[in-house]
Amino acid sequence: MTKVKVGVAGLGVMGWRIAKNLRDAGLLIGIYNRTFDKALRFGREFGVEAFKTPSELARASDVIITMLSDDEAVKSVIVGNDGVLNGLRTGSLVIDMSTISPSTSIELANMVRSRGGDMVDAPVIGTSVAVERREIVVLVGGSEEAFNRAREVLQYTAKTIVHIGPNGYGLYAKLINNALLGSYVIALAETVQLGKSFGLSDSVILDLLTKLSSARSPTSELKVPKMLSGDYSVQFALKHMRKDLDIVNREVSMRGVPIPMTSLALQLYRMAERMGLSEEDFAAILKILIKQQ
Ligand SMILES: NC(=O)c1ccc[n+]([C@@H]2O[C@H](COP(=O)([O-])OP(=O)(O)OC[C@H]3O[C@@H](n4cnc5c(N)ncnc54)[C@H](OP(=O)(O)O)[C@@H]3O)[C@@H](O)[C@H]2O)c1
Repeated sequence: MTKVKVGVAGLGVMGWRIAKNLRDAGLLIGIYNRTFDKALRFGREFGVEAFKTPSELARASDVIITMLSDDEAVKSVIVGNDGVLNGLRTGSLVIDMSTISPSTSIELANMVRSRGGDMVDAPVIGTSVAVERREIVVLVGGSEEAFNRAREVLQYTAKTIVHIGPNGYGLYAKLINNALLGSYVIALAETVQLGKSFGLSDSVILDLLTKLSSARSPTSELKVPKMLSGDYSVQFALKHMRKDLDIVNREVSMRGVPIPMTSLALQLYRMAERMGLSEEDFAAILKILIKQQ
């Protein structure tokens, strides 16, 4: 049986590692990245072709995975000049793994279908470490048939792949995850600082929040050590969390649902961005709670 040819557009924190997993599975034929040097570096390191435009990547691929920052990035790579749509082959599948607005994703899926292809939204739960371990969860929105095709590819980079519903629903599911995560990490930062003000040692705070607490979680295991050591190297950039809560905010403004915790979290991440913390891991939200010198 001939192997499906997969192209990946977007070699950021997540896309680079997803592309590497697919290359290890023997499915990756090429990559595209806006900053071409990064694509060249990946191409040299892993022996796949670095394409200069998304349309050239699409022309060579049966399945195109996009893993990009936000709505603007995904629109530009799919429908921009020399975008995926210009090179899309009939029957090709676009798997967008970025976290973007459900409405944008539905619009793009309709455009892809009008060109004879298909598209799913396939946002991810789990961070760079989980991609390396092939342990991410992928939430898929699209038709049953498109989901089955996407699963054939995603199984090489994910542990759990769930069909949530039609186009857009993978993203709705992802947004409730990040609404919880955004507030939770602020609560963690607050309790780390509270523990310090009580005079508890770092090791007691660490044990408490990662092992003993009934509110411990994989997230507390990942983020509390970062907060205590001040290592804010990026797993998930703070600007992306702010972006996701902005999407939630826009979606609920049409529905009138009260979201007091998420609204407060959004304001706090906005303040953090004003302090220059956009590119740091979102655990750096702790810095807004520290008295500035
Ligand atoms: N990191 C995580 O733990 C995590 C977890 C779950 C979901 N996500 C979501 O996954 C997506 C990617 O996250 P990431 O952490 O991999 O992001 P990232 O490291 O910031 O990478 C972003 C990628 O998007 C490209 N890009 C940005 N703006 C663009 C534009 N206007 N046109 C074309 N390409 C553009 C960047 O290209 P350049 O190299 O040229 O800048 C880069 O390849 C985001 O939607 C994020 O919310 C991330």
